[in-house]
Amino acid sequence: MSTIGVGIIGCGGFALQNHLPGLELCADTRLVGLCDNSAEVLEKAVQQTGATVHTTDYNELVQRDDIHAVIIATPNFTHAPMAIAAMQNGKHVLCEKPLGMDQAETLDLLRCARENDVRHMTAFTYRFVPAMRYMKHLVDTGGIGQPFHIRTCRLQDWGDRNIGWRQLKKMAGSGELGDMLSHRLDYAHFLIGDMKRITADTRRFIDDRQGLKSDLEDWVTVMAEFENNATGVLESSKLATGRGEGARSQDYCEINGSDASMVFQLENPNRFQIARKGQAGLETIDVPNEYLTWPGSTRDPSQGDPGIAFRWDQDFEFIDAIRNQRECEPSFLQGARVQTVMDLALKAAAEKAWFDIDYPEG
Ligand SMILES: NC(=O)c1ccc[n+]([C@@H]2O[C@H](COP(=O)([O-])OP(=O)(O)OC[C@H]3O[C@@H](n4cnc5c(N)ncnc54)[C@H](O)[C@@H]3O)[C@@H](O)[C@H]2O)c1
Repeated sequence: MSTIGVGIIGCGGFALQNHLPGLELCADTRLVGLCDNSAEVLEKAVQQTGATVHTTDYNELVQRDDIHAVIIATPNFTHAPMAIAAMQNGKHVLCEKPLGMDQAETLDLLRCARENDVRHMTAFTYRFVPAMRYMKHLVDTGGIGQPFHIRTCRLQDWGDRNIGWRQLKKMAGSGELGDMLSHRLDYAHFLIGDMKRITADTRRFIDDRQGLKSDLEDWVTVMAEFENNATGVLESSKLATGRGEGARSQDYCEINGSDASMVFQLENPNRFQIARKGQAGLETIDVPNEYLTWPGSTRDPSQGDPGIAFRWDQDFEFIDAIRNQRECEPSFLQGARVQTVMDLALKAAAEKAWFDIDYPEG
């Protein structure tokens, strides 16, 4: 395969903004086709990209010989059928999070990827944040001593507006848990390691979002104990009045270790704050140059909005893994591990209990 042909399924929301510049970073890679079941969205995307192949039926896209890899950026309930159709046609798949509707579905996806020997990746975008990667380096090399706590807080103000498929269990699987907390669960795994046991709570304050009934939570908190005895408190809400939305709203992670604390906010993805033992307060440090881009990525970190640009490295990782016939990071396994915690979080919230975690085999 000299040129890697890519198809994108789902051209709404952030899909093109995130993936087009990402694909441009990859040598000998071409966006071949687009699919969206909204003719209007598709037409706009075709005009934006100039892609010559376009269809409202994803089955047509995944059967093409000139498409070797697909990016799936559609509502959650469609991820599994689309990814399975693509993989059974020998296509490599980068699929949005949450990977599936429940753990069983994500394990089916992992099995299908392995049976068809294709590359598989879950879009846990925060792993690509430069500060996250440097914070992980410090944790792994003893830079903060023994990790005691991880605390994450994602606060947005979505008010009572209609959020379409995101407020419907049959289309989204879960609410704020899958939408926002899934990223935090993944980077808690990435930064701290496996969880031993968890409990959780969820709440829906708004039952009707401007004419559409909602049957999903708009607030969630997971409390975790990790295998290394660290504790985690991960909270996420769509109802933090006045906090705004997106990359500029509250997106915070703090890790406290025996020798140092680190405080990260997404509004500054290339720096974070650190307080070492005995030090009076937090100081801001820049992420060293070698952590500003993903290994091998040709992205110029001085270009683009830093809050957006790190996301482009995700596509680089996907294509590089295809090119070098190696596992993607993060793969469907990470998607299935997060889904395992999510399923248990919903059970814990319903039963007001703690549960031990039994992660799927690697
Ligand atoms: N990794 C991240 O940071 C990140 C950010 C935003 C969204 N997401 C995820 O991306 C996915 C999409 O979210 P979004 O905000 O872009 O949603 P969206 O509703 O804005 O866009 C989804 C698009 O998929 C299309 N679609 C729906 N069903 C389809 C079908 N059967 N065939 C073809 N197209 C279909 C819709 O017409 C729409 O254009 C979700 O799983 C979401 O969780 C991830």
